[in-house]
Amino acid sequence: MKFVRFIMKHAALASVPKHIEHFSKFSPSPLSMKQFLDFGSINACEKTSFVFLRQELPVRLSNIMKEINLLPDRLLTTPSVQTVQSWYIQSLLEILEFLDKSPDDHKVLGEFVDTLVSIRNRHNDVVPTMAQGIIEYKEAFSHDTVTNLNIQYFLDRFYMSRISIRMLINQHTLIFDGTLNPIHPTTIGCIDPHCEVGDVVQDAFHSAKMLCEQYYLRSPDLILQEMCTKKKNHPTSIVYVPSHLYHMLFELFKNAMRATIETHDDSNNLPPIKVLVSLGDEDMSIKVSDKGGGVPFRKMENLFSYMYSTAPAPQIGERTRPPLAGFGYGLPISRLYAKYFQGDLQLYSMEGHGTEAVIYLKALSTDSIERLPVYNKTALKNYKVSQEADDWCIPSKEPLDLSRYKVPK
Ligand SMILES: Nc1ncnc2c1ncn2[C@@H]1O[C@H](COP(=O)(O)OP(=O)(O)O)[C@@H](O)[C@H]1O
Ligand SMILES: [Mg+2]
Repeated sequence: MKFVRFIMKHAALASVPKHIEHFSKFSPSPLSMKQFLDFGSINACEKTSFVFLRQELPVRLSNIMKEINLLPDRLLTTPSVQTVQSWYIQSLLEILEFLDKSPDDHKVLGEFVDTLVSIRNRHNDVVPTMAQGIIEYKEAFSHDTVTNLNIQYFLDRFYMSRISIRMLINQHTLIFDGTLNPIHPTTIGCIDPHCEVGDVVQDAFHSAKMLCEQYYLRSPDLILQEMCTKKKNHPTSIVYVPSHLYHMLFELFKNAMRATIETHDDSNNLPPIKVLVSLGDEDMSIKVSDKGGGVPFRKMENLFSYMYSTAPAPQIGERTRPPLAGFGYGLPISRLYAKYFQGDLQLYSMEGHGTEAVIYLKALSTDSIERLPVYNKTALKNYKVSQEADDWCIPSKEPLDLSRYKVPK
């Protein structure tokens, strides 16, 4: 029996490249917020969702697995990246099992939900494991600008793909596990059709404040102002995934609090963190301003880089107090959450004064459509960029010796 299992496992593994090749030829299908809501509406059909996902999940997985294979060999072969790759292979194989099963069979639908839940759990630690791979690679090899750019390009796409896959899995499992969300009965899966931004701001601020107080024994206050061009004196709300918004705000608040406290070390009064929420016809913008001394302009670009983290690497699986600053992934991952539904996150800073971070979201649910990476010739070309000479002069560190140009008198 053991031997038969061994043979079957190897046969399945051997077929993986063929499956990846097949499914990566399809482009992922981005869903709009409205389509997500339709999947979860009163007449939601579990069969339709099942048939969609058993094709779409392999497509999204295979598209990104093609890109994993394009990573520099020395990164691809680190134990951490190998582990991540093996999770992707196993999850792909598990979903493919459902390709020839009947959507009319209740047992099959139940097994599919269970499989999705176990896939979600398997992939829980993808971000820290991948980060560990990058650290292993950075320690062992010197890296050049081109490799850095490649890794940045890859990780933005890889983590975006992961956000989207988890969104699909969460929607299906939450909607079709047969229970209502007892705390938020109006949410559809993880989407709140009336997500009140001010409430999420308060929640995220409160959590960051508790963490900050554990660390520094004090914390700045919040001043929240909401503006809405249409509905006067009404709370500003949009159709959105509250957990995504919470994630972004929590990261911005942790950064703003740390900067505020560290620059006002010897003062009794901490300047408050100000939040302005503004809803227009097209955009929902949320600005978080602090007076935490800002960031020099030269460093701004690096803040969104996965390769330049200065914080010491937290250990994987460490169950101690979550740190106020971590892998240096707070900003880049938050920006991905904003971009996922066609928004953005931008930072404006004035060194010596403070920082303003603005989250831009789409005000209309019809504009909120998934932004997904696709593996194609353009993507391939981006991995093949070679190191070319800069077409701007690089100033020499040594002062120019002008005596060489002296004209004899
Ligand atoms: N509001 C801010 N004020 C000053 N510096 C900031 C602010 N936000 C971010 N930074 C700088 O950007 C870096 C990266 O932030 P982040 O991506 O959240 O990672 P981490 O907080 O884990 O270091 C921080 O370490 C900090 O140096
Ligand atoms: Mg941070």
